[in-house]
Amino acid sequence: MSKPILMITRRLPPAVEARAARDYDARLNEEDRKLSQAEVLERAAGAAAILCSPAEPLTAETIAALPASVKVIATFSVGFDHVAVDAAKARGIAVCNTPDVLSVATAETAMLLILAAARRAGEGERLVRSGKWQGWAPTQLLGTQVSGKRLGIFGMGRIGREVARMARAFGMTVHYRDQARLPAELELGATFHETDASFLAVCDVLSLNAPGGGSTYHWLNAERIAMLPRGAVVANAARGALIDDAALIAALNSGQVAAAGLDVFDGEPNLTPAYRSQENVFLLPHLGSATTETRDAMGYLALDGIDAVLAGRRPGNLVA
Ligand code: DGY
Repeated sequence: MSKPILMITRRLPPAVEARAARDYDARLNEEDRKLSQAEVLERAAGAAAILCSPAEPLTAETIAALPASVKVIATFSVGFDHVAVDAAKARGIAVCNTPDVLSVATAETAMLLILAAARRAGEGERLVRSGKWQGWAPTQLLGTQVSGKRLGIFGMGRIGREVARMARAFGMTVHYRDQARLPAELELGATFHETDASFLAVCDVLSLNAPGGGSTYHWLNAERIAMLPRGAVVANAARGALIDDAALIAALNSGQVAAAGLDVFDGEPNLTPAYRSQENVFLLPHLGSATTETRDAMGYLALDGIDAVLAGRRPGNLVA
């Protein structure tokens, strides 16, 4: 019996592609070229499943034009703001994602951003590389110690709670803002805030860990930035669209925000150009979940979801 066709939009880790090729007639993207929407449609001809990534948005238009053979779309990511879920639902196409398995890796990236921004690691690294470093000096590149500071987590889901766990080990006090208060066993002593004003007022360090899209679009705007303590540090390992870039850049220049660490950008990879020359910003190219272990686990989970849907079972990682 012939295997169902699985169209994979990007290069995946070798172990994941091997499993896909074992179980499916896998259509790989060996050159790892970013596909246009037209190419996605072309390659999806006859496919039962699509394994996509956050790099290629599956718009409502594209989903409407998919062949009737497509039963499931699995995204190689926890975030699914790049998939028009309602359009998939309307066509009876299941959508799966990769929750849980990337929470630790993404929280590690959030901690990296927090530490690098607070301790001016980007500036230090550039100084050493430039050959201009004159040696140790008592007042050179003084940053902010995070231990003993208040960390505010916007979005206390699985990744946010991992950030909280790691931050406690650094001696930080944890505050959070979410739609509702968590049960005590998940809160682990973190303080819930019912309003943005009371939350932002205690954020010596603010970590954004909420999903993108909808109500979080440009959540960190000029008005909210003004509610932070002066000299706060901001880290974003979630989605670029959570931040109004013009407002953050103005705050980085005025000193209202001392430093920022950013792994994600609105419109990435075309980030707001001012970030590139902003000394007090530490920039990463969306590395949140980029560890070998995590990317393998994400691939397996995405394939588990596809396997389940095609076998007529409800997958644990079903989004819609
Ligand atoms: C996700 O999973 O949503 C990440 O942003 C991709 O690493």
